[in-house]
Amino acid sequence: MKKSIISLLCLALFACSTKTTSPPIKGAVVSARIEASEAGRDILKKGGNAYDAMVATSFALTVVYPVAGNITGGGFFVYRSAEGETGSLDYREMAPLKATKDLYLDDDGNVIPGKSTIGGLAVGIPGAVAGILEVHRKLGSLPLADLIQPAIDLAEKGYIVSEKQAKSYNRYSKQFTGVNGKVTLYAKGYKAGDRVKNIPLANALKEIAAKGNAGFYESWVAEAMVNKTRATGGILSLEDLKAYLPKWRDPLTFSYKDLNLISMAPPSSGGICLGQMMKMIEPYDIKSMGHNSVESMHLMVEAERRSYADRSHFLGDPDFVAVPQDHLMDENYLLSRMENYSKEAATASADVSHGDIIVVESDETTHFSILDAKGNAVAVTTTLNGAYGSKVFVEEIGVFMNNEMDDFSSKPGEPNMFGLTGSEANSIAPKKRMLSSMTPTIVEKDNKLYLIVGTPGGSTIITSVFQTILNVYEHGMEMQAAVNAPRFHHQWLPDNLVLEPEKFDAKTIEGLQKKGHSVEAKYSKIIGKVDAIHISESGTISVGADPRGDDAAATH
Ligand code: GLY
Repeated sequence: MKKSIISLLCLALFACSTKTTSPPIKGAVVSARIEASEAGRDILKKGGNAYDAMVATSFALTVVYPVAGNITGGGFFVYRSAEGETGSLDYREMAPLKATKDLYLDDDGNVIPGKSTIGGLAVGIPGAVAGILEVHRKLGSLPLADLIQPAIDLAEKGYIVSEKQAKSYNRYSKQFTGVNGKVTLYAKGYKAGDRVKNIPLANALKEIAAKGNAGFYESWVAEAMVNKTRATGGILSLEDLKAYLPKWRDPLTFSYKDLNLISMAPPSSGGICLGQMMKMIEPYDIKSMGHNSVESMHLMVEAERRSYADRSHFLGDPDFVAVPQDHLMDENYLLSRMENYSKEAATASADVSHGDIIVVESDETTHFSILDAKGNAVAVTTTLNGAYGSKVFVEEIGVFMNNEMDDFSSKPGEPNMFGLTGSEANSIAPKKRMLSSMTPTIVEKDNKLYLIVGTPGGSTIITSVFQTILNVYEHGMEMQAAVNAPRFHHQWLPDNLVLEPEKFDAKTIEGLQKKGHSVEAKYSKIIGKVDAIHISESGTISVGADPRGDDAAATH
């Protein structure tokens, strides 16, 4: 008996001493799909940097995440190098040369429903390939072909359809067939576990790997995109494609307490609105109010309401309109915006117009965050706009074309597919970039890298990023908990406070209603799919992959 107790004790001791603790994370990629995260992570393991991984992950997402991953859309890239240098690249789509201000209006000046969202006329000039290749040209270290190869392999060998994907493909299959006039790849009917091979996409990727930008913008790939877009009612031309150029822009930077935030400037509204919201709440002790308490939610919603009102009026492509960025970010201006804020009662959106200064998006965007072992950080948000963009499927290259044209204001004052109301500043013009909400953001604390964050979600992108940053910084949450936490959203118009369904208790909802908020808690959709990386003061890296999607982190 004594002997057996001793041997049990020995066994227990042995088990304790051999218990494996995971090694610290050196680098990470967090994206909408594990295959895309692994494609980037494997590049990091081979000695590539975060920018190389950005290329590999972007192309892999095109294969395994057709709802939003793309070579036929556009996006924004924000980086912070290990040395602290920051920058951002705008590879947003542009309106085709033949686009006009009233492209989506009938003879009476009314918006024709569906024209800017479904079919060829919804398609903007894709910027994704030019953007990804520009990141590689400026910051990459490994050969381009090596970075595209993982995506080619995925397209040739096939990827496994998840439960969520099968549901999504089947939900949209009728629309795919309607727009394309026949059953195309994603309209075939799927179940979880099916394998999807996409040889046409593999061929297009090989063309890009061999010829760079010309392989996409000036080859048979370009011809296929133009032909299909035109056959479905569009105006995209070879001339449009040949002329597309991405643009390096100064990132939008601002402080919040001891944080320094680096985000995307116009034509994304993301950076400005995030900055406005954070500055508007900065004077208040939100930490003591508690996470998702009636008090803290009320304050944040009132900041969101005011910022979205400004977004609608002032923001557009800075190459076409004068965006009063400095005024919109001015601390005194933002204090004045909160002068009519009441702790007790909601301000009606009808009483919140845009500010007085001298002088409207899909749920199906996608974001990924990358950190390499040296400390280079990358935040990328990229989109086709709506789920599967315009639903126009180019069979020769195995992908959907974007419907980014809906992010313009078809008619000032009319809401777009996200209910966002736009103004003249965001009206359509040839070669103009449509306003976005994408908010790829990098946060520094005491001059050190602190957070890499972003999300899809159309108009809810900015509020999701806003809440995730506060969850970590103010409410002390771990990265994954901060991502999991229930979200809410207000965008000025419509004057509704949207809560994720079944995530807020009756007492909170009642408390918000008492303050006068029109609460929409049965909203059927999730808000955002945040993928983020946190670096603690001691240098410990942790990841947050949003369980609302199939999102996953790959680390090493
Ligand atoms: N299409 C979504 C966005 O750009 O915000």
